[in-house]
Amino acid sequence: MTAAHVENRNGNFPGKGIGEAVGVAILGKGTVGSEVLRLIGEFSDNLEHRIGGRIEVRGVAVSDVTKHAGAPGLEGIELTDDARSLISRDDIDIVVELIGGIDYPRELVLQALKNGKSVVTANKALVAAHADELSTAANEAGVDLYYEAAVAAAIPVVGMLRRSLAGDQVQRISGIVNGTTNFILDAMTTTGMGYDEALAEATRLGYAEADPTADVEGHDAASKAAILASMGFHTRVNFADVYCEGITKITADDINAATESGHTIKLLAICERLVDAAGNTTGVNARVHPTLVPNEHPLASVDKSYNAIFVEAEAAGRLMFYGNGAGGAPTASAVLGDLVGAARNKVHGGRAPADNPYADYPVVDFGEVTSRYHINMTVNDRVGVLSDLARTFAEAGVSLSAVRQEESGKEAHLIVVTHSASEKNLRGIVDKLSEHEDVRAVNSVIRLDA
Ligand code: NDP
Ligand code: HSE
Repeated sequence: MTAAHVENRNGNFPGKGIGEAVGVAILGKGTVGSEVLRLIGEFSDNLEHRIGGRIEVRGVAVSDVTKHAGAPGLEGIELTDDARSLISRDDIDIVVELIGGIDYPRELVLQALKNGKSVVTANKALVAAHADELSTAANEAGVDLYYEAAVAAAIPVVGMLRRSLAGDQVQRISGIVNGTTNFILDAMTTTGMGYDEALAEATRLGYAEADPTADVEGHDAASKAAILASMGFHTRVNFADVYCEGITKITADDINAATESGHTIKLLAICERLVDAAGNTTGVNARVHPTLVPNEHPLASVDKSYNAIFVEAEAAGRLMFYGNGAGGAPTASAVLGDLVGAARNKVHGGRAPADNPYADYPVVDFGEVTSRYHINMTVNDRVGVLSDLARTFAEAGVSLSAVRQEESGKEAHLIVVTHSASEKNLRGIVDKLSEHEDVRAVNSVIRLDA
């Protein structure tokens, strides 16, 4: 069957026709791009059956052509350092962006969409910063914008929120969405390593990048939280809306205290729908911070560099998704899934479901969000200090659920666990405690959640 025989079943989005090849440009041939190319080569016959037309990679863009010249898998494919020209070619139907960064890929993706190419990207930083602009460009051009690999790589959470839960009401998403930090925290918990040693081990094993800032400071997880909250709550949540605290201040003492109280420290991305007493949604919030997760919660046992996302929806109930959240092949799997979807639409006509932030809930400031807290202090060991400090909490209207004290000489370690309190309220208490004459140090404040 040729293009002329294909009925335009999808209104304004006609297909090329069954049997027509789909031209693909791949931008970036690093960890992910190389695996995408390898898998397209390996699975090409199966992909053709699934799509209804053959995938033809017609160009690959890199920054340094000499580095890749003659590499296997590039036979007959144009290799260029001029991505702008490649994505302007008429024989390119789909652009796969695997360069990373924000400004340059933003320019390329916008140009590709405006030129009528569908785009597949694994770039969470780009999507979390510019989703509105990219989505508008895709809608105006009537093409697809896919980014399954941007969140937790191989774990199909974007498609799950976009399609599978499209008829439900998502209440909350909490997840371990950064493999590097989960590896570090798990190593600290299971081997007793300190933070620096665990980070060095993560670097040695290739989990952490040469510059691990985006991982350990929580920025990578915050980009993913923005995407999850936007999809889950049909509301645009950007990277800048996400409260973000990394793991760099977590000490061996914090890990030991967590273990003693039956918890595991995880860097969680938490996306929450906030409701009033009548059950009406008042807004949404997205945040990333180290969190004490009770050991019996499924997220507590997610070890090594694995990711897991826990979703609570009104009708579906509690769902959990677990797997590889990083790495060349797992990320390429998600990219290929998107590529098949975009290619099918190019062949048969039609579009993938687009972003739909119709609900437009207000994004509530983190200061208004409530949690429980675990506060670790070093205090002077004198009679009455405990009741004095407990009064600071009571005066702010925050009740305590547990207090544990360990003496060492003239000082004592005090661990206080609160009932639910707003972040704003808790910060006021911590400021007062820090100024108290008997408090030598507030060592850590960690939220209890999940
Ligand atoms: P890499 O750094 O391994 O590869 C980047 C590629 O982009 C390289 O091939 C590089 O070329 C190319 N490149 C850089 N600048 C340009 C330019 N100006 N023009 C053309 N090509 C350029 O990155 P990854 O493969 O690890 O990541 C790619 C994307 O996937 C990122 O957005 C990342 O966040 C995302 N991602 C990555 C995951 C992972 O586990 N690695 C997991 C999930 C998402 P050259 O080879 O010549 O240097
Ligand atoms: N650096 C990220 C991680 C890669 O460690 O999870 C996947 O986004």
